[in-house]
Amino acid sequence: GKPLPLSGRHVLITAGPTHEPIDPVRYIANRSSGKQGFAIAAAAAEAGARVTLVSGPVNLPTPAGVDRVDVESALEMAAAVDAALPADAAIMVAAVADWRVARSADQKLKKTGQGVPPLELTENPDILAGLAKGLRRPRLVVGFAAETQDVIRYARDKRVRKGADWIVANDVSGDVMGGDSNTIHIVTGDDVISLPEMPKEDVARVLIERIADAFPR
Ligand code: C5P
Repeated sequence: GKPLPLSGRHVLITAGPTHEPIDPVRYIANRSSGKQGFAIAAAAAEAGARVTLVSGPVNLPTPAGVDRVDVESALEMAAAVDAALPADAAIMVAAVADWRVARSADQKLKKTGQGVPPLELTENPDILAGLAKGLRRPRLVVGFAAETQDVIRYARDKRVRKGADWIVANDVSGDVMGGDSNTIHIVTGDDVISLPEMPKEDVARVLIERIADAFPR
């Protein structure tokens, strides 16, 4: 039969939230479900790509034909992304925590009756920007931007600032986080492709089709 659109390509995807440890039993997290990133991984595998899915803590089954690497924190995600290179395309869908606890405790923090523990935060590395500006940059680097207003303007700024080729602007003014549908705008250097609200699986297929079109066959 005819070759699939992404046969022979390695596609690297991040998905889900990160958990930033406070101590061995506590962490800081966010509400990302991982659904959109997992749907993109499934669509990329269906399109014939070798897929590495670096996933934060989620409750989702591994899509068929996908190599999954589970991580917890942003630092672990950054290391796993690095270890997965080289890749032809990277799609960074993870909701990476902006901050981690500067010095997480080795033992469970105890109530002392003398006030609360001070939690000093420090900035996490920007995995997308690091990849896009790095020496082993994949040919196509795609980021996501979840915004509740001025989604396209913020996405354009983000595209340039992070060095991504495309930013998928995600309108999260509704109940997208954890929901089953998504409204996106694909912001490339040249234009903006706005899609109507659709199931995350359909968003994934449209995006993967566009990505396949960006590679010569
Ligand atoms: O800056 P912001 O978090 O809105 O950027 C979102 C995009 O950047 C997503 O593609 C996300 O996966 C990526 N990102 C990252 N590492 C971070 C923060 C965001 O890869 N520390």
